[in-house]
Amino acid sequence: MVSNLFQSGGTGLPPVELLSLSCARNIRVKLLRTDLIHPLVSGNKWYKLKYNLLAAQDQGYPRVISFGGAYSNHIHALAWAGFNMGLETVGIIRGEPEYAENPTLRDCQRWGMKLHFVDRKTYRRRSDAEYLQQLLEVVGPGYIVPEGGSNRLAVKGVAELAEALCSSESPDYILLAAGTGGTTAGFAAGVADGIRVLSVPVLKQGEFLRDDIARLLAESGVADRHNWQLDLEGHFGGYGRVCADVRSCIERFGLQYKLPLDPIYTAKLMLRLEQLLAEEYFPSGSEVMVVHTGGLQGARSLLV
Ligand SMILES: Cc1ncc(COP(=O)(O)O)c(C=O)c1O
Repeated sequence: MVSNLFQSGGTGLPPVELLSLSCARNIRVKLLRTDLIHPLVSGNKWYKLKYNLLAAQDQGYPRVISFGGAYSNHIHALAWAGFNMGLETVGIIRGEPEYAENPTLRDCQRWGMKLHFVDRKTYRRRSDAEYLQQLLEVVGPGYIVPEGGSNRLAVKGVAELAEALCSSESPDYILLAAGTGGTTAGFAAGVADGIRVLSVPVLKQGEFLRDDIARLLAESGVADRHNWQLDLEGHFGGYGRVCADVRSCIERFGLQYKLPLDPIYTAKLMLRLEQLLAEEYFPSGSEVMVVHTGGLQGARSLLV
């Protein structure tokens, strides 16, 4: 079955909604709801996977191989998209085989993904050419997509979203969560001149993302307009840490704004947004476009 998941005219621009936060005062806050574009390939995943999977299909690869943690949104979206496009998928998963029973990885297996568990030390070699060669000998030849899907083709897909957004909206800031930096690089590449991209790593010591984002832009052949920056204060304890503030943020936004958030990325982003508004970080009269990048499938395991 070769489907046209990514060829059916794309998704158009996801809904843009006004978010009436009481703490926003004279800042206009809008939400770009990429979480609503597809029930399973949701949020930034759609844009990061699109050109990668089309390339794998066009180049006749039998399978797509990628990397992620046991609750990875990227692995989950890849498994479904691959299944839908008739591509085999292999997930190289950091951690023990017992994770295979969690809801994320159960879905992936249901969609035919083969799981290959590796310890943390091995997982750290995920970009090492020699290791990748050995891996292909074990799992079979395939098209390798890096962790989080972040590469030049992901930047291309996200940049298209940013361009589409800027054809109908003119925010002063784009605010988004970062894990591997691919989505940030895509927005930095695609937004109109004058728009600042403020990227909030959800992991501690996220400074390393500066180099990664600059490298992704260079690999994409995009001149760095220095229109982006990192905000390192939004990790709330570090990657995968779900503190009480994150839990209450999810509850509050659900009740007050009917806005579903995930604990790893988007709830932390909203908490950081509220802090930035309280600190009057944004100049008076600015408009901030907050990107809801999805990730809701992960909440099933992480909020129990
Ligand atoms: C829901 C969600 N939001 C944001 C991100 C961060 O994106 P990136 O890894 O491109 O920085 C991810 C990870 O891909 C994610 O799953």
